[in-house]
Amino acid sequence: MEIQGVGGRRRRIILVPFPVQGHITPMLQLGSILHARGFSITVAHTEYNAPHPSTHPEFMFHALSDGLGAGYDMSFDKILGAIYIMNERCKVPLVQYVENQTACGEEIACIIHDNIMFFVDAVATRLKIPGIVLATFSASYFQALTSIIPRFDAIFPYQDLMLEEPLPDLHPLRYKDGPFQPTQDNDIPEPIRDFFRITNDIRSAVACICNSIDYLEHSSLSKLQTHYKVPFFPIGPFHKLASSNSPTNLQEEDTSCLPWLDSQAPLSVLYVSAGSVAVVEKHAVVETAWGLINSGRPFLWVVRPGSVHGVQWTEFLPEGFQELVGDRGLVVKWAPQRRVLSHPAVGAFMTHCGWNSTLESICAGVPMICQPVFSDQLVNARYLSDVWKVGLEMEVIDRDVVERSVRMMMKGEEGKDMRKRVVDLKQKVESCVEKDGCSYKALNELVEFISSLHHKD
Ligand code: UDX
Repeated sequence: MEIQGVGGRRRRIILVPFPVQGHITPMLQLGSILHARGFSITVAHTEYNAPHPSTHPEFMFHALSDGLGAGYDMSFDKILGAIYIMNERCKVPLVQYVENQTACGEEIACIIHDNIMFFVDAVATRLKIPGIVLATFSASYFQALTSIIPRFDAIFPYQDLMLEEPLPDLHPLRYKDGPFQPTQDNDIPEPIRDFFRITNDIRSAVACICNSIDYLEHSSLSKLQTHYKVPFFPIGPFHKLASSNSPTNLQEEDTSCLPWLDSQAPLSVLYVSAGSVAVVEKHAVVETAWGLINSGRPFLWVVRPGSVHGVQWTEFLPEGFQELVGDRGLVVKWAPQRRVLSHPAVGAFMTHCGWNSTLESICAGVPMICQPVFSDQLVNARYLSDVWKVGLEMEVIDRDVVERSVRMMMKGEEGKDMRKRVVDLKQKVESCVEKDGCSYKALNELVEFISSLHHKD
């Protein structure tokens, strides 16, 4: 279906991603989905972590001058400042770009932006173009935030002894699953509270698109829709609906792990990765390394350079690590994750529970060992272990717990049951993107909705 504007031209959608891998990937996938439905796509991106235009020749790309430059250090402690800088500096370049495009005869249907790129709302309002928010995370996390934000003072600070207690009105979450990064005295500093207030406010957006599935998160999605009073379109998992499998990775993939996986027995390998942002303590990775050694199971471990505090890459590995594991362990800087997860040799995924990794693992029918690091990952981990029951929660990271969890998942009865459940869930989720499935229908509704949008004169 071609969605044509005046003069028979495709109507254009402008996408504004937040520039970290876990947010760029779903935005580009959304672009592919909407392009296949007849829209032209422009990705208006920051210079920092710019996507590679050659991977999507069907899109237009436009760099917004962000004031950070390509080499900015976006480590966790600097990320908040960077977000405000980008939101301030990208405003004028985006206005100028859209005005130029309109002057050239482009008909802009809407601007879809990551909720963290909140400046777009002011641009869309000024140019009288409808804005739509993309939530790249789970609906359950989004809903937990909307419920907690107005109750900050009632919930924080909490006592240590409440960690295992249920968070009021947020079943199945406990205080310790709360999607924030509390300080040592279990409080949330005011700048962080402000950040969540700002990014959770959808302002004048006319709709929200979620990389979620009604079948998986029905209750959270309907609460969100009631709260925000705009249509929510859960059209996930994006990677299953996107017709093009164009690469979205910013970093070079080490594909040498694929022939290594070919040489391993079916369901024998544990895949370990903590995504693209998390930076973990040295102590935790040393314990993980020993747990993997002692488990005796084959493993493929992604250690992103800079992902361990105070260490460049793998300097934390215990002395003699390579001799101890021999051919049974492979460490890489960045893997082709979706191909790894769908490889027959992979039996389980030790994950930080980022939302993309969570969906990718479910869709590959791979059960998870949950090692959340911050924010939405804590909520996802709780849903994986307590609601969908396809993940094993690892409460503490010490070598014995790691070893036990790996053995249990790869060889134990609990692991077998979990694998059965995740394979069942995979089939159910796959049927959601097929004709008449809930995500497929939501996508048709979204396309109709965008087609009906007009400039707000
Ligand atoms: C961030 C947040 O941390 C996450 O919690 C949130 O849901 C999205 O934004 P990230 O930590 O990178 O994302 O995790 P995740 O959402 O899992 O995304 C990582 C992406 O990188 C996945 O699509 C994964 O396939 C890809 N990846 C990761 C690789 O392709 N290779 C790797 O080696 C590691």
